[in-house]
Amino acid sequence: MKAVHILEAVRSPGKPVRLSGWIHRKRQSGGIAFMVLRDVTGLIQVAVKKDMVDAKSWDDASAATVESSVEVSGTVKEDKRSPTGYELAATHFKSLNVAEPFPITEYQSTELLLDKRHLWLRSQKMIAVMKARSYVFKYAREFLDKKGFFEITPPILTKSAGETGANLFDTDFFGTKAYLTESSQLYAEAMAFSLEKVYSFAPSFRAENSRTTKHLAEYWHLEPEMLYYDNRKSMALQERLVSHISSRLAIQHPLMLKELGVSAEELLKIKPPFKRMSYEEALMFLNDKGFQLKWGDDFGVEHEKALTDSEDKPMFVYNWPKEIKPFYMPINPKDERTVLCSDLQAPHGHGEIIGGSERIWKLDDLLSRMQEVEKAKGIKFNMQNYQWWIDLRRYGSVQHSGFGLGIERVIKWLLNLDHIRDAIPFPRMSNRLEP
Ligand code: 4AD
Ligand code: MG
Repeated sequence: MKAVHILEAVRSPGKPVRLSGWIHRKRQSGGIAFMVLRDVTGLIQVAVKKDMVDAKSWDDASAATVESSVEVSGTVKEDKRSPTGYELAATHFKSLNVAEPFPITEYQSTELLLDKRHLWLRSQKMIAVMKARSYVFKYAREFLDKKGFFEITPPILTKSAGETGANLFDTDFFGTKAYLTESSQLYAEAMAFSLEKVYSFAPSFRAENSRTTKHLAEYWHLEPEMLYYDNRKSMALQERLVSHISSRLAIQHPLMLKELGVSAEELLKIKPPFKRMSYEEALMFLNDKGFQLKWGDDFGVEHEKALTDSEDKPMFVYNWPKEIKPFYMPINPKDERTVLCSDLQAPHGHGEIIGGSERIWKLDDLLSRMQEVEKAKGIKFNMQNYQWWIDLRRYGSVQHSGFGLGIERVIKWLLNLDHIRDAIPFPRMSNRLEP
């Protein structure tokens, strides 16, 4: 008998098939056991009747519990009464592993579901989210590969801060202090000088002790870096990348989206161009709405929400005050209070999904900017750790730009999840390191 997945079996009913999967639900009365069987492709109702199967099959079916792994053969037919629309009438049933009482029942606290994450990943919701996550990875890579980018693999253990340096996890590296990378940008810059257009797709680590719905301590960071790009060109690339991901999801996976309650039509509307507002315009917009922000203030959760609440597409806020952005961003020649950069804000307050900028590419500019930052912030860069990166400005430097996209932020927004932890299988947050 042919081994098939549930989806294949319901597409051509009437043929004898063999299914392998897990028992999602079960009820039994008298000589008949009804089960809902799950595999990666979906659910189907299975009916095992005592007088239609051999004794061993009936014993196995009777003893099978929720989440037992089983093999079942029979013929699928459409059945309006079945919760899945189809029913397999079993001719043979076999348990591979009878499950102990499953610790997750219908109404469970969020904490329990996080403690039992390794099992909760079998829920219909998490199955759909994890499929979507895999597709988001695939379509992001697909877009950049088509644009001629090379995927690079940066080190995760580093000696220097790649971003603000304020939230580094440290570790002992054979007697020297090492850090888990917070951004692979500096390494992407180095490789761009040989491969011209590169992206790294790797975890970044942030020791932010902020318990928000948008922060993970370990997240997946897509970081493209492009030679000869200014930030305007980088923004055009960013909006096409985001649009590619959302439209491919909408076109290729309408059923999965439906299961997640996401409108494919809305995703198809996420087309370039996205709205662009300078920091100054955004500040005025927010103060018109009743906020009392001063020039130079960073935006918090409530500002991001007010800014994007009535948007259906992400929007760029560009050219931020230099004081609140990192040391590698060049000063804007048209307004020296600002740097050439942009953040991409997701609609409806889902928050910043991309941060990007031009990079200071001339040696003298970089050294004097780093000194300026030291003075302004009262910090001291350990220049020795940055020498290799500064070196890039000594040997054939050219203009370049790049950006970092937080994959879980994008997934949270596209699937309209309440919390970023559900966008990653095993979330790491200030209060969670297991399973
Ligand atoms: O804005 P960030 O800090 O920028 C950088 O790290 C740059 N070096 C990137 C680059 O230019 N190559 O982080 C980039 C993005 C944010 O826009 C956000 O989407 C995500 O990373 N991000 C987080 N996602 C989840 N949890 C956190 N704690 C995050 N911090 C940043
Ligand atoms: Mg940022």
